[in-house]
Amino acid sequence: MATPDEIALVRERAEIVNLVSRYVSVRKAGKNFVALCPFHPDKNPSMTVSPEKNLFHCFACGEGGDIFKFLMKIENLSFPEAVEKIAAEVGVKLSRAERSAPSKFDAYKELNEKICQHFQKNLFNSAGQKAFEYLKHRGFLIETMKKFRLGYSMGAWDDLLRNFPKDKELLNTLGLTVPSKESHSYDRFRDRLIFPIFSGQGDVIGFAGRALSEADEPKYLNISNTPLFEKGHVLYGLNFARNTASEQKCFVMVEGYADVIAAHQANFTNVVASMGTALTSEQARLIKRYAPLVILAYDRDAAGQAATWRGIRNLSNEGLDVEIALLPVDEDPDNFIKTKGPDAFRKILDDARPFHQFYVQYLIETNNAHSGAGKQKILQEAIAFIKGIVNSARRHEMIRELASQVSIPDEEIALLVRNAPDASKTASATERTTTTQTTPQSRPILQNQISLGPEEHLLYFLFQGHLSVPRVARALEATQFVKYPEIARVLYEVGSQERWKLDQLLEQLSPDDQTIVRGLMLTELSFSSVDKAIADAMTQIKLKYLEEHLRKLNTQIAQAERSGDKEIVKQLQAKIIANRKEQSILKRLQEGGI
Ligand code: CTP
Ligand code: MN
Repeated sequence: MATPDEIALVRERAEIVNLVSRYVSVRKAGKNFVALCPFHPDKNPSMTVSPEKNLFHCFACGEGGDIFKFLMKIENLSFPEAVEKIAAEVGVKLSRAERSAPSKFDAYKELNEKICQHFQKNLFNSAGQKAFEYLKHRGFLIETMKKFRLGYSMGAWDDLLRNFPKDKELLNTLGLTVPSKESHSYDRFRDRLIFPIFSGQGDVIGFAGRALSEADEPKYLNISNTPLFEKGHVLYGLNFARNTASEQKCFVMVEGYADVIAAHQANFTNVVASMGTALTSEQARLIKRYAPLVILAYDRDAAGQAATWRGIRNLSNEGLDVEIALLPVDEDPDNFIKTKGPDAFRKILDDARPFHQFYVQYLIETNNAHSGAGKQKILQEAIAFIKGIVNSARRHEMIRELASQVSIPDEEIALLVRNAPDASKTASATERTTTTQTTPQSRPILQNQISLGPEEHLLYFLFQGHLSVPRVARALEATQFVKYPEIARVLYEVGSQERWKLDQLLEQLSPDDQTIVRGLMLTELSFSSVDKAIADAMTQIKLKYLEEHLRKLNTQIAQAERSGDKEIVKQLQAKIIANRKEQSILKRLQEGGI
């Protein structure tokens, strides 16, 4: 492990905004940046990232910490792994980098990487000539094949086993070989064109293989779920698309691998694929990390299917805006771009329209709007759908659309929507419980600028550098903080040094107190007079403490009276009088009477 000094140096050199922006879109807000929190389902940007303090903090779920913490959480790394990764990026050599044992995941990724290279090599060998010609025939350029790291799997049943004999177990785990009864496993992909599937960060997490002849079924063969790859949690092409999507504030969603590759080759670099299935909430959340809008460019028959609408509902429930681009019948983006050209595809995307227009149309077409039962069915489906739409403008548009189609007044439909059971909420709530590992439980929530009392204010001024620790320590005892005595105690301890560091403070606090500290560090408040606000906060803290103390004295005195201990009663009475007197002085001070 690295030494504390080295860790501090890495932390100092690394830029947290730079790291965070690789995973979520960040937007500047004052001194800080804000983003949708990737650690809980977030509808508004609840996460603040401070370049100055080198911290991130989510005001909604309470998650937060430094650059290492962010990387650990989002990439599932241990602390030493996170330090090593960032140290390498910022050019800090760690003295005792007797590499911490690589994690299982590292081993998986490493093997996937080797296999990907193996497949790539095959494609450009004589063995892969057929596959290579096929790709060329479909109009893919060599540079595109290289960018997407396309490959070819040999026809043999044991090619991978022969080339990676030491990794027999891992090959099974990664879905590259299929275990069979006779204790032998065999290659899953034989004589197929290989599409590696990447994580958002560009690691190879899985593979798909396309048949090279019509006779070979299925057309696409996919690996099953593995520790690195979970169907429905991945978007093909995200690693290549996320930067453009974030800049353009929009993704284009297509169905297949070939569509993504053709689109990128034609310079539509915000295109990703759902890989054939209905879009899931996990995919919706991935999208939302980078962009608020997604345009679906599916082929026509897919666009009209119930599974597609279910996917759109998932997108909509996560607060995404959805538009639909209409391709000609029987065309997919790959075909379309190659036959009609990029400009025509651009036009199709520009002409995309909000999904609800199509959805109402679809319901009308698939049910009989003239029969009572048909109308009932349309209303039922549409209302459940509308209920889940987060964007209220879109919700109203759909209500209007529906109202005009079924000839029922807007207001009546709006009422039906309002009274409908909140199915989408319960559905996503149950979904969420399965993915809550990343969501911290029962942390206090410090909402932006809500119910900040005098203690929060004073700590805020301290963390913003308006106040020194010794000055606070002279004015208040740590025990006078009724809500945060522990924060004050640790602060007085570390803050007595000339240049104390934030990490020293955070290290010694409970997770709940850490959340409070980070929240206050990253909050921005405005006051007409900081000096007055500081004075007020100090007075109020003292008053609160005195009130609290008075309550205790009163209980004690009642007890002493019961047991007839006159001496103690007397002492307590004196204390109560002193307490009251102090309170009245402070109150007059506060009202400006002194
Ligand atoms: N798909 C799959 N398994 C299949 C068929 C399709 O996983 N047996 C997924 C793939 O991600 C595929 C997408 O669904 O890319 C769309 O399928 P399809 O339209 O049939 O294929 P295309 O992408 O058009 O493939 P190609 O252009 O190579 O024919
Ligand atoms: Mn196709």
